[in-house]
Amino acid sequence: MHTINTRRSFLRGFAGTAGVTYLSSAAASTRELSPLLAAAVSSGESYWNLVKEQFPLRQGAVPMNAANLCPSPRVVWEKVAELTRDLDSDVSFQNRKKFDTTLEESRRKVAEQLGVSPEEIALVRNTSEANNTINNGIALKSGDEVVLFSENHPTNNVAWDVRAARFGFTVKRVSVPHTVKDAGEILKLFEESLTPRTRVLSVTHVSNVSGIRLPGRELSQMAHQRGIYFHLDGAQTWGCLKLNLAEIGCDSYSGSVHKWFMGPKEAGILYIRQERIAEVWPHTIAPGWGNKVETEAQGADGAVDGAEGRASEDQGGEPGDAHGPPAKRRGRGGAL
Ligand SMILES: Cc1ncc(COP(=O)(O)O)c(C=O)c1O
Repeated sequence: MHTINTRRSFLRGFAGTAGVTYLSSAAASTRELSPLLAAAVSSGESYWNLVKEQFPLRQGAVPMNAANLCPSPRVVWEKVAELTRDLDSDVSFQNRKKFDTTLEESRRKVAEQLGVSPEEIALVRNTSEANNTINNGIALKSGDEVVLFSENHPTNNVAWDVRAARFGFTVKRVSVPHTVKDAGEILKLFEESLTPRTRVLSVTHVSNVSGIRLPGRELSQMAHQRGIYFHLDGAQTWGCLKLNLAEIGCDSYSGSVHKWFMGPKEAGILYIRQERIAEVWPHTIAPGWGNKVETEAQGADGAVDGAEGRASEDQGGEPGDAHGPPAKRRGRGGAL
């Protein structure tokens, strides 16, 4: 049997059978790339050569630190270049209008991939911004406690200390041994740290420090049984694991497009479960000129209390005031 052992001979063979004349395996669109990859699967090494060919890696260099920044394949950076060129060729509102559709389509696809609805997904700059939206956006006060995993990234760690210095709540950290016998051992450690004052549990799904994976679903259940908000930092899981956020049940989840997802640089996602969106104050308010602002939007203060039946009257203030209970819940997620 004839073995296809070089990329060129494989491609020549494929182009012949498929009737397509590919001069290079570095396809310019996913539509072109998908059939090439599908055809190459059975051909062993040629599949991986084809994959490798999509990345402009420096000769002899192999990127190993996917935790930080991943290279994007050609289909991504060519699309980015194409859209940037398009924008620079005509920066008018009329030309830019079409990006509204691109944006909504992206949100829809991300939501579908993560098993949630587009209204629950915000496209942001990165995981850092998404994490900070949560630790800056949830209304907390003196006496409240936030429980963190000790290996959390600084944006989900020291960032809480900064908010605590401002708002007077307390931050506790839980360490987990790097070898555990089962998930139950991890759950027990977190459970022991929760008190009736705990309002938020915020952890990294897979640690970029030790690589340990925390049981997201079980932690989520444990938090919710106590009316605690549960945030999951997914910088090391989105694009790496098959995920269904609705099944995991977290209240929010953050991720970066430029890590395992291998997308464009400086883009990220923040998922917030529909029921929780109104509890998160936005840190940046930027409606377009002439847009009708949702004037009933009152931010989130007290809403976490409401979720577990604790009244927020003790916070004082008028409904809608920065320290009062929400006068009215926001109808949709404007929290960025
Ligand atoms: C667990 C975790 N969270 C957050 C971040 C921050 O990601 P970014 O720099 O894309 O905002 C990282 C980056 O390595 C990370 O590993």
